[in-house]
Amino acid sequence: MSLDLALARALPRTGPALSPNALRKIVQDVAERTDEWLPRVRLAAGERWYERIRLAEDHEVWLISWLPGQSTGFHDHGGSRGAFLVALGELEELSLGGPEQGLLMRRVGPGTARAFGPDYLHDIRNTAAGPAVTLHAYSPPLSEMSRYELRAGGLVRTATEGSDQW
Ligand SMILES: [Fe+2]
Repeated sequence: MSLDLALARALPRTGPALSPNALRKIVQDVAERTDEWLPRVRLAAGERWYERIRLAEDHEVWLISWLPGQSTGFHDHGGSRGAFLVALGELEELSLGGPEQGLLMRRVGPGTARAFGPDYLHDIRNTAAGPAVTLHAYSPPLSEMSRYELRAGGLVRTATEGSDQW
């Protein structure tokens, strides 16, 4: 277990979770501090590359890079609220809309931030020709995530991972 992960588990989580809008502001502020994240970006051919760059009692910030074709698959955030911002490149986000809407697809371009509540499910993918870099904030810090498959009847949970598995 990494030191910061051990720290995250030792920290009391007594404070209220930050709102999606507060998390959006955090990723926007971090994005402007390029010296905090740009030198740390790596690209990995096998899978998305990621690193946690901030850890606080009530939130954390991750830096992720995406080569063309890399994606998350549908997942939740274990009850955490979140926001992400595309710092470089462009991504596609799939989510389920209401019964009338079905599957929603959004292009998320550079400088754009998306924020979401604790029950949100999405699939983020790089369908562009070039790499992308994103900043993600979660509150409380992620403790687990579940994966889902899109089947005829909707999204079906297929796996749950704890934070010691990433
Ligand atoms: Fe996500």
